[in-house]
Amino acid sequence: MTSSPDETAPLLDIRGLHYRYAGASADALADLDLRVHEGELVAVVGANGSGKSTLARLLGGLEKPTAARLARACGHDLLADDGRIAARRDVGVLFQNPENQLVAQCVEDDVAFGLENLAWPPADIRRRVDEMLARFGLEELHLREPHMLSGGQKQRTALAGVIAVPRRVLVLDEPTAMLDPAGRDEVLAAVRELHGEGLAVVYVTQEMDEAVGADRVVALERGTEAYAGDADGLFADVALVRRLGLGLPAAGELALALAERGRGLRGLPLTMDALLEALGGAP
Ligand SMILES: Nc1ncnc2c1ncn2[C@@H]1O[C@H](COP(=O)(O)OP(=O)(O)O)[C@@H](O)[C@H]1O
Ligand SMILES: [Mg+2]
Repeated sequence: MTSSPDETAPLLDIRGLHYRYAGASADALADLDLRVHEGELVAVVGANGSGKSTLARLLGGLEKPTAARLARACGHDLLADDGRIAARRDVGVLFQNPENQLVAQCVEDDVAFGLENLAWPPADIRRRVDEMLARFGLEELHLREPHMLSGGQKQRTALAGVIAVPRRVLVLDEPTAMLDPAGRDEVLAAVRELHGEGLAVVYVTQEMDEAVGADRVVALERGTEAYAGDADGLFADVALVRRLGLGLPAAGELALALAERGRGLRGLPLTMDALLEALGGAP
C-alpha cells in the first residue's frame, strides 16, 4: 500500500519555536522542535515553569508563537490567525483543572458545548453526546451539575467534551494532577483507550509513571529541550533526571533506594513487574 505525503507528514510539526510572554525578559519557550505523528503518544515532562503549559496552549492554537521556522498543526499554520482558528478544531486540549473547563449547567450540556458552537444539527449532537456519555461512563450522571461531581468525574466530563468534537490530536496538560488516585486511574484509562484507537496524544505530566508507556519523551528545561527519546533513555541518566527536577518511576526510585542499602540490581527497573523480576522473580 502506498501512502500520500499527507498521511506520513507529522500532525504536529514544530521547528525553532519561540514564545515570550508580554513584558517578560526571557523566552518561556526557546528554539523548540517537536514532531508528533498519527497514532503517537508523546510525553512532555519538566519541572514547574519549564514551559509545558505554554507549549500545550501553542499546540492547540490558543496562543500565537512569538517566532518559529515552522509551526503546523494538522496542516494548519499556527503562525497565521486563520490557521490557529482551524487548529483549535483539530487539536483538543484538556487542562489540569477540570473546574475551569466545565461551563454548562449539567454534564450532558457540557459535553454538547463544543458541538453546539460548531452548529451541529441537534439530532447529531444528541447522538454524539450519548455516545460520549456511554464511553466515559457518565450516563447515570448526565443531568448532574458539574460541582456535584468527583474530581475524576469532572475530568472525564471535560475530556468527553473535548473528544465529542472529532479530533486528530489530543493535548493533555497534567490532566491527573488535581485528582485522587481513583480519579487518576479513570482518566488514564480513558486516555489509553483513545490512544489505542489511534489518536495522537501529547501528554504533559510530572508523574514519571505516566510517562513510561509513551512512544517518546520530551523533557523541557527552562523552555528548551533537554532530552528527547524513549523513556528508558531518559531514566538511564539519573543525573539528568535530577537536574530537571524530576523523579524516576516509583519502581526506579525503589530500586535506587535498595541499591543505597546494598541491594544493587542489574539495570534500572521502571515498572513494578520489572522490579520484581530484578529481585528474583514473582513470589
Ligand atoms: N501568563 C503569563 N505571563 C507571564 N509569564 C508567564 C505566564 N504564564 C507562564 N509564564 C512563565 O512562563 C514560564 C513557563 O510557564 P508554564 O508554561 O506555565 O510552565 P509549566 O507548565 O511547565 O509549569 C514560567 O517561567 C512562567 O513563570
Ligand atoms: Mg503547567
